[in-house]
Amino acid sequence: MGPDPAAPPRRTRVHDLAAWKRAGQRFAMLTAYDAPTARLLDAAGVPVLLVGDSVADAVLGRHGTVGVTLEEMLHHARAVTRGTEHALVVADLPFGSYQVTVEDGMRAAVRLLGEGGAHAVKAEGPAVQLCTRLVEAGVPFMGHLGLTPQSVHQLGGYRMQGRTAATADRLRDQARALADAGAFAIVLEAVPADLAREIAAAVPVPVIGIGAGAGCDAQVLVTHDLLGLTPGGGPGFAQAYADVGAVIVEAAQRFREDVRTGAFPDGEHSR
Ligand code: KIV
Repeated sequence: MGPDPAAPPRRTRVHDLAAWKRAGQRFAMLTAYDAPTARLLDAAGVPVLLVGDSVADAVLGRHGTVGVTLEEMLHHARAVTRGTEHALVVADLPFGSYQVTVEDGMRAAVRLLGEGGAHAVKAEGPAVQLCTRLVEAGVPFMGHLGLTPQSVHQLGGYRMQGRTAATADRLRDQARALADAGAFAIVLEAVPADLAREIAAAVPVPVIGIGAGAGCDAQVLVTHDLLGLTPGGGPGFAQAYADVGAVIVEAAQRFREDVRTGAFPDGEHSR
């Protein structure tokens, strides 16, 4: 007997992502940092939510992800997992939690699952040893290659990666190595569309693109860019699907005016 079509959707599992790739079914991932937003994205049927270290710029008013701490990631991961019923929740390992030793990375990942409630972790760069050890320990691992914002100082800015033959070769090798090590998916950020398409075809796990063209198996956006909440509109590859910023300003202006004129609270809201 097949699954009951009337049954509520179950939570996305890491294995579903590879099955979707095999079936040629593209899927979406969005970032989430708090419970009410996670609840809405979950209700919208977004199957994968990323507690990204982009929380730094999107929510905490910082510039860049390098200063995000593990405690901050835990705080936001807890909120997001409380807000979801169906989405797979992936949490970023922040800068400093895995660059020094693999053991550090394992301890941080264990905390993000155990205390944060996340179902998987993501780390940037060719963290092949960490991926191998985490998968052996039962912790699903998502890779992140191309423009890796935690390495912004080494990369010399937020620029497109893989433009030369040598750097494109390196990205191909890194993606294969992560897939071989057991990564269940790989984010590819800011790489030429042709290269991203080629990498997606070369590895058996889903390649989730951001600024990497239409040839990827899935796409991710920062939710604040999607909703029009990023001052200046965010990076060129991000598309705003709504202007929630304008809705907030308009509601706050109407409230401000109603308070000034005495229209709020009216009889109905004075009880
Ligand atoms: O932190 C983040 O939002 C990310 C996405 C850009 C993939 O890593």
